[in-house]
Formats: sequence, structure tokens, C-alpha cells
Amino acid sequence: MNPRGLFITVEGGEGVGKSTNIAYIRQQLEAAGTELVVTREPGGTPLGEELRDVLLGVRDTGISAMAELLLIFAARAQHIEEVIEPALEAGKWVVCDRFTDATYAYQCGGRGLSFETVAVLEKLVQGDLLPDYTLLLDAPVDTGMSRVQGRGEPDRFEREELAFFERVRGTYHQLAEASSGRYRVIDASQPLPAVQQQLLQVCNELITCWRVRHQQP
Ligand code: TMP
Repeated sequence: MNPRGLFITVEGGEGVGKSTNIAYIRQQLEAAGTELVVTREPGGTPLGEELRDVLLGVRDTGISAMAELLLIFAARAQHIEEVIEPALEAGKWVVCDRFTDATYAYQCGGRGLSFETVAVLEKLVQGDLLPDYTLLLDAPVDTGMSRVQGRGEPDRFEREELAFFERVRGTYHQLAEASSGRYRVIDASQPLPAVQQQLLQVCNELITCWRVRHQQP
């Protein structure tokens, strides 16, 4: 039987280069022979992608912070059951573009909901499922936002004010400090080759971890 796969999440504020960097991570890990499922939140399943459209879509009437939170966890519940758990069980690695740390950062840091509220839903929906590693792509808010501005119509989150994203970034820093064992913080404000150099080091660490798991009886 295959050992359980590694669950890796990638986090960061807006415009930190998640898509480009996840493609690079995928390339490195697949080259080392891992079987990989790359997915995202909110989304990753047909229902989750529908909920993503609701969450990101700009609308005339607002979505309350609590309704937003519950929609995110509804998408997550489906994602875990349909994609994440079956893949990990089958020994595949899962690289997920955002997970529950994003909920702490955006819904607690950004919107002001309490950590306790999110922790209750986290336990209910995830049980003991936690990422093995979380890669935080970190860059100053104005650097990220200037990258986002060239991309066309901003979504419902991208329309938030700078102070919202400062709180999001501050919360990510708090989480990285509190869970330093699983977090790897990447300075994403550097030019791409320097960011990839940092990512390569982390990928090598992950591959070593995978080899150790495979040697276990
Ligand atoms: P992105 O994945 O393209 O960056 O967009 C997803 C947006 O959803 C992003 O602005 C952050 C937001 N989000 C939350 O607010 N809470 C969450 O738990 C997740 C997963 C995403």
C-alpha cells in the first residue's frame, strides 16, 4: 500500500505570483517522480467552482461576512470529500492553491470574524486534516496590488481597500509564526529567478520527506 500523500498548501495575498510559482513547484515535484493533484480553493470541484463564482463575483447586494465564511466552508467540505482525501489516501500528493489559512487571513484578519468561529468550522469540516506544509508567498501589499491592477476587472476581493490586505498579510505572518514547523515563507517580492531558487530549496526538502516516507515499512 502507498504511504499517504503529502498535503501542501500555497498561500499569499493578491498578486504574489501563486499561479506561476505553483506551475514551477509542480514541475519540480513531478520531475522527482511524485504523483500530484494540483487544485485550488475556493473551487476544485464542480460545486466548489460554482461557489467560487458566487464568492468572487461582483454583485449589487452584499454578502455578509458569516455567509461568505459558510460558503467557503461548503466548498471546502465538498473539496475534501471529493478530491483531497481520496488523493491523499491513494498516496498522491495534493498541492492546493489556498486552504483554511486563507480563511483565517481573509475572513478573520480582513473581515474581522473571530479565530474561534473559524476554528469551530475547521474542526467540523476537516476533522484532523491539516496541511503537512504551507508555502507562504509573501510580498508587500503595494507590490502585489500593482501586479493585480494590470489584469482587468477586479473581483469582489480585489476591490477591497489596502488596509484590508495589510490585515490579511499581518494575519499570514501571525500564522507562519504560530505554525513555524509547517510554514515555509518565501520572499515573493524578489525577481522570479530568486523566488524560484527559494522554492527549489523547499521542493528539495519535500522530496526528501517523501523519500523518507517511502522507505518506511
Ligand atoms: P485566488 O485564489 O485567485 O487568489 O482568489 C481567491 C480569492 O478568495 C482571494 O481573494 C482570497 C479569497 N479567499 C478567502 O477570502 N477565503 C478563503 O478561505 C479562500 C480559500 C479564498
